[in-house]
Amino acid sequence: MGSGECRSNDYGAAAYWDARYSSGSPASGGGGKFFDWYQTYAALRPLLRARIPAASRVLMLGCGNSLLSEDMAKDGYKDIVNIDISSVVIEQMREKHKEIPQLTYMQMDVRDMTFFADESFDCVLDKGTLDAMMCADDAPDGASKMLAEVARLLRPHGIYLLITYGAPKERVPILCQAGCSWSITLYIMPTPRYQLKMSKGAPQPTMEEVALTEDGQLPPDYVLKDPESHFIYICHKLAVKEANCRATEPEETTNAN
Ligand SMILES: C[S@@+](CC[C@H](N)C(=O)[O-])C[C@H]1O[C@@H](n2cnc3c(N)ncnc32)[C@H](O)[C@@H]1O
Repeated sequence: MGSGECRSNDYGAAAYWDARYSSGSPASGGGGKFFDWYQTYAALRPLLRARIPAASRVLMLGCGNSLLSEDMAKDGYKDIVNIDISSVVIEQMREKHKEIPQLTYMQMDVRDMTFFADESFDCVLDKGTLDAMMCADDAPDGASKMLAEVARLLRPHGIYLLITYGAPKERVPILCQAGCSWSITLYIMPTPRYQLKMSKGAPQPTMEEVALTEDGQLPPDYVLKDPESHFIYICHKLAVKEANCRATEPEETTNAN
């Protein structure tokens, strides 16, 4: 997935992911290896540490065999519940991390997380899973169900932190659907490949906060340095009486560079 396009509708299918995680190909994270989509914890750490206290109860959507949860636990995070639709990867990860009590693993479909009580998480983390849902046969309905569940599971003022290839024009409308109520701050991060290329010259900032317009879009004159950049949406759950969806006012934001 990348550049705003789905390469395959299979990204929404459990059978596709089971086959991928069963395969022996390290490049796809198969055969018990690991594979991190988009960005690693090392790159995301400044933002995550600034926005998510280590004592938070965190739900990791579509964990796959990413190192993110393991690295967060090693860095002091106390309670990370990992879910994925693939029973294959859940078994692999449960076995791999059986000595790390901060990490739990459950096979679950993000469209139906009724197992969990309302307002039972401080933070929901999503790296690539909304993207997979937007490629599924039932998109965008399945993605909408997932986001309604995320809003239900978060405590008031909890955070849905979404890491995606989707630009605001593709992601803000679905985030701001009825039933969800967010204050959104956006960061843009070049791909690791671009960062590597650029660091041979003058050092580049790795992450940039970009103020969204009132209707939740990129400023009209904004130009992406790396066209393949990743977008990080920090969505604060608003209290019910507040506006349905809005960009965070500048004074409320934190600079994570
Ligand atoms: C693009 S991968 C991202 C994996 C991991 N978060 C990472 O950053 O490397 C998408 C993940 O979402 C999972 N997934 C797809 N559809 C799902 C669903 N309906 N419910 C739960 N997980 C799902 C897949 O099994 C896969 O592990």
